[in-house]
Amino acid sequence: MTLPRHVAIIMDGNGRWAAARGLPRHAGHRQGVAPVRTSVEECVRRGVEALTLFAFSSENWRRPEPEVSGLMGLFVDALDRDLDELHARGVRLRFIGDRRSLAVRLQARMAGAEARTAANDGLKLQVAVGYGGRWDIVEAAKRLARACASGALRPEELTEERFAASLELAGLPDPDLFVRTGGERRISNFLLWNLAYTELWFSDCLWPDFDASELTRAFEFFASRQRRFGLTTPQTGETRDHA
Ligand code: FPP
Repeated sequence: MTLPRHVAIIMDGNGRWAAARGLPRHAGHRQGVAPVRTSVEECVRRGVEALTLFAFSSENWRRPEPEVSGLMGLFVDALDRDLDELHARGVRLRFIGDRRSLAVRLQARMAGAEARTAANDGLKLQVAVGYGGRWDIVEAAKRLARACASGALRPEELTEERFAASLELAGLPDPDLFVRTGGERRISNFLLWNLAYTELWFSDCLWPDFDASELTRAFEFFASRQRRFGLTTPQTGETRDHA
């Protein structure tokens, strides 16, 4: 089975999972930690190179304060509890997004986790916190504009590769497979640049119910796709012709 090198996931549906049980939204987020572990374990087991999870978007800051602080507490707890295990499995953990608004103790935990796992050569795990695809692109544009203004870069020298190297996922292959749970068919300001040619898989399953068999369905979907990157079928050397 053709394996994606890089999988990106929008973990959606925690609130609805909780509401369906008459529970507060936070109970859904708490229940959403187990499928994070399962997804990481499955990617490690299958030998996937990179996994990027959308944990908190730049827009999520507008949620009610108790929900935001509850989520931040969950992130700290998950780091405290799972970092040893991730490290033991050779996972390299990084965070993408704008950290400046995060609590200082969370920023410190994140930096510590990144430093501790930096030399690991197993799964490259990116957790997006305070992330927005448009923010990412604008930040890259600012960095490149500064380089042009200082004379370090000429505008004519700016290529797609150089631009990509200024984004948060610099150095990683673009995601091959995108998964969104929770039934919505949207990208919701996730990796706007990097998802240009990604295969998109949408699941109606709510994130707390996401498990290894649901992830296997996404991998099977990916394996069945013929990726043309703008070429014709004969050019790709494929014999199958999918629409
Ligand atoms: C979207 O569901 C989910 C989030 C905004 C939070 C995701 C967080 C977790 C899965 C917790 C664990 C994460 C880590 C990295 C340890 P929603 O609240 O928008 O659900 P709804 O659409 O049903 O309201």
